[in-house]
Amino acid sequence: MENKQFDTLKDRILATLFFEASTRTRLSFETAMHRLGGKVLGFGSKEGTSVVKGESLTDTVRVIEKYSDCILIRHQLEGSARLAAEVSNVPVINGGDGGNQHPTQTLLDLYTIKKIRGSIEKQRIVLLGDLKHARTMRSLYYALCMYGAEVILCSPPELRMSRETIQEARTRFGATVQETSDVKKSLENADVVYVCRIQKERFEDELEARRMQREFRVTPELLPENIAILHPLPRVNEIAHSVDEMSGAKYFEQAGNGVPVRMAVLKKVMAWKT
Ligand code: NCD
Repeated sequence: MENKQFDTLKDRILATLFFEASTRTRLSFETAMHRLGGKVLGFGSKEGTSVVKGESLTDTVRVIEKYSDCILIRHQLEGSARLAAEVSNVPVINGGDGGNQHPTQTLLDLYTIKKIRGSIEKQRIVLLGDLKHARTMRSLYYALCMYGAEVILCSPPELRMSRETIQEARTRFGATVQETSDVKKSLENADVVYVCRIQKERFEDELEARRMQREFRVTPELLPENIAILHPLPRVNEIAHSVDEMSGAKYFEQAGNGVPVRMAVLKKVMAWKT
């Protein structure tokens, strides 16, 4: 499968609308589209587009849908992908809407955990870092509850996941969820730790973000043997570089899994035209 070229989406065009920074999401979707024989157009920042002239998101989407068969969007506003989908006649994929959701990241996270551990059910999985602002964590938390994982939420007290988010999935799926701010303790007997950076761009006070960056950090001494270490990337300093040498460090492999998983997403989403 790796590096294989298909013509499944020959003649199809994916439009990538990135109003917020991205490396992996945008480029792995592009690679996925190329591998499936399709074409890609789009932008990686709003600079150079009519958005700087004051065009609204919905007007931009109404135009781009005329140029493409599917729209991938990342935007700082929570609910932006849903709004785009409401005005678009072509399918819209959410590539991250503010601090809300990042569904295709979650699909590749689930795929990675299943590949490494053989299952998601009953795995003890620690979500560690900025649980208040990280969309990757919100989406993954929900999915882990849905698939029967045992979830431990570990964050500084100020960066806890919202009560409503925790409660919604816990009640809906009857999930086992614990909360703590003790990094060392949370990692004891864990099967997987999923770390994310402090999302400084979503803080009102950047100094506060920097302080937390220093305090919440995973180093080899804290990690039990056989634990799998995941991260959606980019890493800032929340995982020490010495962790990269450990056999459980799987974050680069995880990023690579974005290509086959997004190939599957694109194939499914583009099926509307066949
Ligand atoms: C994440 C994002 O943009 O939410 N990156 C990604 O898509 N792999 C994580 C982050 O920015 O911290």
